[in-house]
Amino acid sequence: MSLRLGDIAPDFIARTSAGVIRFHEYLGDSWGVLFSHPADYTPVCTTELGRTASLKAEFERRNVKVLALSVDNLERHAGWIQDINETQNTEVNFPIIADDDRTIADRYDMIHPNASETATVRSLFIIGPDKKIKLQITYPASTGRNFVEVLRVIDSLQLTAQHSVATPADWKQGEDVIVVPAVSTEDALKKFPKGVKVVKPYLRYTPQPS
Ligand code: BEZ
Repeated sequence: MSLRLGDIAPDFIARTSAGVIRFHEYLGDSWGVLFSHPADYTPVCTTELGRTASLKAEFERRNVKVLALSVDNLERHAGWIQDINETQNTEVNFPIIADDDRTIADRYDMIHPNASETATVRSLFIIGPDKKIKLQITYPASTGRNFVEVLRVIDSLQLTAQHSVATPADWKQGEDVIVVPAVSTEDALKKFPKGVKVVKPYLRYTPQPS
């Protein structure tokens, strides 16, 4: 059965470019990003993994551990990492899972047979410190992901976890956020000292809590 938001992200043991990893143990108390790409030595994937490596500080600042996956073996990963470092002017600094028997790809439903019988699509899961799936997005092989959007979603999820707020369409860091429906306006006024703007009883904004 496919995975849904709120499900526990299945645990696994994997061989990776950074050694053997037990997924849940590796995540510890961190947030996680687990993402698949169709294959090693492909152009779009090369740019995606380079971009991810260059965002190391942004992921660390948010307490996020990143793990990539493809259904290639460790030997191919090793050669490809050298290419990524060379062409993307970076240093791949996160593990890439060698899922050549597709165990993890199947468990996470990363192979969509009507798109490709053999390659993984571009699946991406954001996993909370409680190991629950907070977001999943699926891109086709031909479209590289927007990692600014991935960071933006992580910011939104972390704000929700810490402050009972939601974020409106196209929200960016520093912009007003939305008081969640579960909080009454009376409680919101106490909880958010920067103020609450009531546009409708169900649409209430407050400056982003820090
Ligand atoms: C790529 O990663 O570059 C790619 C993979 C499959 C189809 C198209 C592009």
